[in-house]
Amino acid sequence: MKIRTFKVEQWMNEFENDAVYNLGETCIDSLKLGDLLDVCGVDRDEFFAKLAATRLTYSHIYGSPDFLKGVAGLYENVKPECVIPTHGAVGANNQIIHTLIEPTDNMVCVMPTYQQHYSIPESIGAEVRILQLRPENQFLPDIEELKSLVDENTKMITFNNPDNPTGSWIPRESMEEMVEVARSVGAYVLCDEVYRGISEDGSYMHSVVDLYEKGISVGSMSKIFSLAGLRMGWIATRDEEVVEMVRERRDYDTISCGVIDDMLASMALEHKAQIFARNREILLKNRAILDEWVNETEGVHYVRPVAGTTALVYYDMDIPSYDLCVRLIREKGLLFTPGSAFEMEGAVRIGYAFDSKLLRQGLDKFGEFLKENR
Ligand SMILES: Cc1ncc(COP(=O)(O)O)c(C=O)c1O
Repeated sequence: MKIRTFKVEQWMNEFENDAVYNLGETCIDSLKLGDLLDVCGVDRDEFFAKLAATRLTYSHIYGSPDFLKGVAGLYENVKPECVIPTHGAVGANNQIIHTLIEPTDNMVCVMPTYQQHYSIPESIGAEVRILQLRPENQFLPDIEELKSLVDENTKMITFNNPDNPTGSWIPRESMEEMVEVARSVGAYVLCDEVYRGISEDGSYMHSVVDLYEKGISVGSMSKIFSLAGLRMGWIATRDEEVVEMVRERRDYDTISCGVIDDMLASMALEHKAQIFARNREILLKNRAILDEWVNETEGVHYVRPVAGTTALVYYDMDIPSYDLCVRLIREKGLLFTPGSAFEMEGAVRIGYAFDSKLLRQGLDKFGEFLKENR
């Protein structure tokens, strides 16, 4: 099976370790194990005693009851037995697409998005129809365009909400319209919801699963929970047939997730209110820093992100985004992600949910570079 290079992951693999100012990061300031215990108010001695007594078997093949209950609690209408733990969201997307998509299918995928959503189906031989998100529409999908892209062979519509890289967030009414389009042709809707959970209005945000009987949500401990090192993600759906099909495949490539990872993820899910309070503060503070910088800086513009942890920032310089980003890392130690990794030229993705001081310093370095090259 031939598959295209995963551009964003390649970029990070190659340059992340050289960064002084890492604005390529998409997780909200990752927690240390000790921080997690403190944020959750867990006694360290008790925790380490429990850890020492944990038998390192395959453990619960379909996920521990605490993990399944914790994830189901992030939705209105999902039963714990319809949650499938995976190796990160990357494992979840891979499982779902390989389980459901066949070479004779077509599917619709928004662009820009996480590359798995179009490159895996393409590698299977399916036809991928792109629903382009445009800055003039605040990077929100055009429903009429979506209607024109589907037909009776459309197996799946896939989108990313909140969206990486643009930070756009599809409002509930638009999502309901998208669901109606999917329903009219019997298509599944796969929504990668790894950035769901922290909104400006304080709500947990709607999920496709609660709006559509054939909706499939992909989630993860990596971004909003700040625990990417656990490599814990999940698939959640109300469609029990899909659960069965994924489980059949999962025996071949997962068996189970790590028992310690599951234990820590369950703890975080139980104490999600504390983690979200910490992370909401970081996210909103840093989004304001980015917004102020974009508004004050000559030669850049963007659509203000309303959710997620990233923004797509356009620059007024005649240089391809890849070349610009290579120069920034070499000359300034500043890591952005080229827009070209998302098939978007003339822009860079900025991840702003990390450290506020580094964010400010990194943005100043970019300002300096823009001045020097004007
Ligand atoms: C939209 C999206 N989906 C999935 C992933 C993979 O996340 P995980 O760490 O849970 O595998 C990422 C990581 O950047 C992402 O941005």
